[in-house]
Amino acid sequence: MEHIIETEYLTKKYAELTAVNSVTLNVRKGSLFGLLGPNGSGKTTMIKMLTGQIKPTSGNARVLGLDIESDPVGVRKLVGIIPEQESPPSFLTAMEYLEFIADIRKIPDLENKADWWFDFLEYGDKKNVLCKDLSRGTRQKLMLTQAFIHEPELALIDEPLINFDPIMQDKVKSFFVSYTKKEKTLFISTHLLDTAEEICTEVAILHLGDLLYTGTIDSVRQEGRHLSDLFLSLVRK
Ligand SMILES: Nc1ncnc2c1ncn2[C@@H]1O[C@H](COP(=O)(O)OP(=O)(O)OP(=O)(O)O)[C@@H](O)[C@H]1O
Ligand SMILES: [Mg+2]
Repeated sequence: MEHIIETEYLTKKYAELTAVNSVTLNVRKGSLFGLLGPNGSGKTTMIKMLTGQIKPTSGNARVLGLDIESDPVGVRKLVGIIPEQESPPSFLTAMEYLEFIADIRKIPDLENKADWWFDFLEYGDKKNVLCKDLSRGTRQKLMLTQAFIHEPELALIDEPLINFDPIMQDKVKSFFVSYTKKEKTLFISTHLLDTAEEICTEVAILHLGDLLYTGTIDSVRQEGRHLSDLFLSLVRK
């Protein structure tokens, strides 16, 4: 079985605080993997390590076969990323930002690809608007566009749905499911447990940096449990 992400005893400490504590997990190709956990449990820290934004204190990880510590640039070239609460640059228009991304990622045929995304996420009227003047949801649409426009094998998204209205959430959830049906892999962090239960194939639950649970959604269901019950029973212990 092919693993797109493999971590071994992955740990991040900030002085006395252990943000991620010796986490070992595997993410299978084609899975929609949900990283769950209360505020401050280490989800963003995990995603930052897996995308080479910060170095682990100890342990190691491979993403798409590349070591995150020795080849963070290689990892970032391949994956799609939406960091937590990231906004596109205020001084560029939506289209200028995508041109900038296409330049860096050497994406051919940007015009058609961008038009598909403007149409799909219904923000073509904002194409030439400066990012500083976009609504929060529209900025998130643009972040989603830049993460997927090169059709990465793996995208890591920190809380993808929270800024979207219910209609857009529905659309994006369907997109995620269909994306992983094409054997691409998604790794998302989320507080939306019902959504995770609905769309994820596998979940992990972090609490104070410790990995308390990993398993498939099917195995959660087979135990006759709801994900929210499992989550609360683990983190309230
Ligand atoms: N740069 C930093 N310096 C010191 N401590 C940090 C730093 N970044 C994160 N932390 C701490 O690490 C812990 C994990 O934070 P992290 O942002 O990974 O949590 P999270 O699960 O993403 O939380 P949330 O659900 O609120 O987004 C927290 O206690 C946080 O305060
Ligand atoms: Mg976070």
